[in-house]
Amino acid sequence: MPARGWSALGRNIIIVDDYLTMSQAAAQAVIQQIKKDKNTVLGLPTGKTPIGLYKALVRAVKQEAVSFKGVRAFILDEYVGLAKNDKASYHFFMQDKLFGKVDIKKENIFMPDGQAEDLTGECLRYESLIKKSGGIDLLVLGIGLNGHLAFNEPGSDFDSKTRVVKLKAETRRVNAVNFTKPEQMPSSAITIGLGTIMKAEKIILMASGEKKAKIIKRALTGKITGAVPASILQKHKNLTVILDKDAAKHLVTHSA
Ligand code: PGA
Repeated sequence: MPARGWSALGRNIIIVDDYLTMSQAAAQAVIQQIKKDKNTVLGLPTGKTPIGLYKALVRAVKQEAVSFKGVRAFILDEYVGLAKNDKASYHFFMQDKLFGKVDIKKENIFMPDGQAEDLTGECLRYESLIKKSGGIDLLVLGIGLNGHLAFNEPGSDFDSKTRVVKLKAETRRVNAVNFTKPEQMPSSAITIGLGTIMKAEKIILMASGEKKAKIIKRALTGKITGAVPASILQKHKNLTVILDKDAAKHLVTHSA
């Protein structure tokens, strides 16, 4: 892996030069996982961070370096109230960036339904689908500026499961750019829980850019606290963090 340096923090933290290299490193890890187990269960994030990863995976499938034929994939969250074909929905995002461009089987794509009449029932159904699949083998995560993972905002319980959550003002402000009018931004979402996340066999956390540097430092080296949901990852047994150097700038590192 094109690592530029390893942190002295005792965890598997890979620091690379830029966004493209971060995306390629994450893609390599996903490809390796699928090659090891063609029926791998993936947990996949939305947002800006994974776009380069998905591009790299689409390229790898086109070049026949990997196949998603046996892969099952769970997305981590979805807005409440948005139709699946709404361009701002995560259904649309995942279809557009990855699922529509690789050879994954339709029946192996799992996404929470933000328009379900019974949202509580939908959350229970989703959590049990993950369980029935045998659990997530490799979960990829981005991190919010406030330390959220998926839509587990500060204050989320560490053992939380899939549920409906109210989005914090900061998250709504940041994500409003994806909507034609800011007022269209939903106020709640379905998200898998921090407990669901921590049950994944392996986790990859990605972050890029200077604006993520402070929260990355708090999450990886600060106190484990509900105020920084991502800090719970310090307790995960198989966590790999892939950062570009801007996101890693507040971590103490030594050169490779
Ligand atoms: P981003 O979002 O990838 O668009 O920065 C990350 C997140 O909010 O989890």
